[in-house]
Amino acid sequence: MATTMASRHAIPGPRSLPLLSWRGGMLKLYQRPFSFLRDLHATYGDVVTLAQGTSTYVCAFGPDLNFQVLSNPQLFQAGGDVSVTKFRQDTAFGKLMSQNLMQMDGEKHRQHRRLMQPAFHRQQIAAYHQDMMSLTQQLLESWREQTQINVHREMQDLTLRIAVKTLFGVYDEEELQHVGTLLRDMTRSMLLTMALPYDIPGTPYHRVLRLSEELTAFMRATIARKRAHNEEADVLSALIHAHDEEGATLSDDELIGHAFALFVAGHETTANALSWILLLLSQHPQVCAELLEELDGALQGSVPTLEQLSQLSLLDGVIKESLRLFPPAAIGIRIASEACDLGGYALPKGTNVVYSEFLTHRLPELYTNPDHFLPKRWASLTRSPYEYLPFSAGRHMCIGLSFATQEMKVVLAMLLQRYRLEPVPNAKISTQLSMRPVPGIPMHVFPQDRSFKRVPVRGTIHQLVELPKA
Ligand code: HEM
Repeated sequence: MATTMASRHAIPGPRSLPLLSWRGGMLKLYQRPFSFLRDLHATYGDVVTLAQGTSTYVCAFGPDLNFQVLSNPQLFQAGGDVSVTKFRQDTAFGKLMSQNLMQMDGEKHRQHRRLMQPAFHRQQIAAYHQDMMSLTQQLLESWREQTQINVHREMQDLTLRIAVKTLFGVYDEEELQHVGTLLRDMTRSMLLTMALPYDIPGTPYHRVLRLSEELTAFMRATIARKRAHNEEADVLSALIHAHDEEGATLSDDELIGHAFALFVAGHETTANALSWILLLLSQHPQVCAELLEELDGALQGSVPTLEQLSQLSLLDGVIKESLRLFPPAAIGIRIASEACDLGGYALPKGTNVVYSEFLTHRLPELYTNPDHFLPKRWASLTRSPYEYLPFSAGRHMCIGLSFATQEMKVVLAMLLQRYRLEPVPNAKISTQLSMRPVPGIPMHVFPQDRSFKRVPVRGTIHQLVELPKA
């Protein structure tokens, strides 16, 4: 690929620290991700290396570069995550980790995505509405006796139960609990396996290998049952029956990998998004009052139909604005499959290109008062997929976008009509690169009495959003 005159310049970025090199930048990205990304952009511009003189990790900031990176999947590839190739492919865990859309590129990705797409069509997602409502109803019932909850934990439990039921079609409560626990243990232990992927008793990797075998056996039995009974009301059933014009279908290993990946991609992201929405609403009493008015007017206390959900414009704005400020995927990575030019700089083959949803969403030229929570801006604002990208853009754009949006709307419409949540005064609320609220969001639960007021909170949340005075 041709390089330009400008590409002869070295990529700007912080000085490389002895021994650490780009790892120094990576460390900062984990320690203080949001201020670090903003500092890099303000100091060095749109194309920045994590350490001068290296191009292992290069950040590409802003909508033009988002477009260049995300609309050219042949050049900037999503697959080949080094962390996944570390795992032995002949284990149940290795297979689980490699059979998913995010690890695929080119023709294979296109084919699998086309097979999976029907399970996520609007009409198909409508079939999951009843499950989303009844599981939300169950959770809200359980709050009747509670005065204080950790909102993040509650949202994790709810999105986990919704995922297990709608993805795998598990209806028996005991089985739902068992599979939910298995999946949760797996995803938690998985995070710790990257550092030490050796099968030594007592290590997280050893545990993950055992859990993967159990999970795979469960999924194999579920697939066999579904094939025999032709059950069709869940995502896994839709994937089992999926076929293209040439008659190609997904193998059992592929089905298992995709189903697991759907769970991992959809459960924590939606839980984080819902948690931040509830916190932001609690900090903006005026928005909360107006949202309740909208819900009262449209629903009058009833559970929402899909038709009604599509007409709640402020609820839509609240979700969009929260995802702008707290995108559950704050950054994404692609790998240059060959030497190329990006934003006037030469990148060698193999460069990891980091783009940032978070940073794009804070650009003042795209969003006035970018650090303020202003849901009504969405009544008149339209942004291209490369200017507003909480679900990413291009070929790997989130396949679960409509699923997640419907789930968030159902949960919020039902929850807010019934309860008012108020943070525990001065609770410390922070976050990290994963956009998970740390250590959680402790809140008091009141019946919905419309007495909205802002209760102050502490923590690094104040670096992420300008909150109104109490
Ligand atoms: C608020 C919730 C969610 C957010 C913010 C979100 C965000 C994202 C983002 C940013 C990507 C692109 C990753 C990349 O390009 O590297 C993605 C991909 C994906 N998401 Fe979501 N997601 C959410 C919910 C869900 C749900 C509920 C599901 C499934 C039920 C799901 C399944 C997937 C899958 C399978 C991919 C990979 C698509 C591909 O590579 O072709 N997501 N998501």
